Amino acid sequence: MSERIRELISEKDIAKRIVELGAQISADYQGESVFMLCVLKGGVYFTTELSKRMSVPVSLDFMAVSSYGMETESSGVVKIIKDLDESIEGKNVLVVEDIIDSGRTLSLLLENLRQRKPKTLKLCTLLNKPARRVTDIQVDYVGYEIPDEFVVGYGMDYAQKYRNLPYIGVVEFE
Ligand code: IMP
Ligand code: MG
Repeated sequence: MSERIRELISEKDIAKRIVELGAQISADYQGESVFMLCVLKGGVYFTTELSKRMSVPVSLDFMAVSSYGMETESSGVVKIIKDLDESIEGKNVLVVEDIIDSGRTLSLLLENLRQRKPKTLKLCTLLNKPARRVTDIQVDYVGYEIPDEFVVGYGMDYAQKYRNLPYIGVVEFE
């Protein structure tokens, strides 16, 4: 089976939307600094572009997480593969994601972060698939709401491929 990619959101549109988001977020944090927490790997492309459009002071760090999967779902913990380098206590933490689908991993991550006593904790995602949500999480900033389709590009992968596409596309199998 081979696959082809159908463009869903163009490089130009994404760039424009990120400028808007940067302005909106910066206005909301006026007079404060923001600790952008990038969720690896998919969030990297969006995080770096968004950070360049912020007009308030920004610091950046990265986390890699995975959930334990269905069999140990009841454990309710997130497995941290790469943790932050520094404390987030008293900071304005903005978690930056590529896409929120079921929201499972993210809700566990947010719970973990809350225990570290940030001053504020907000969530920003480039794409949101609300139709697929199984947890109740508040998303503060959304680039685009998209239908329930599997997308790649701008950080998002299919079997580790296509992360480097400058646009967002839908994978079509043929
Ligand atoms: P969730 O825990 O189900 O919300 O999704 C976790 C992660 O799965 C996201 O942060 C993405 O990295 C990945 N993911 C979800 N939907 C897609 C998609 O359509 N394309 C590529 N990756 C996705
Ligand atoms: Mg992700």
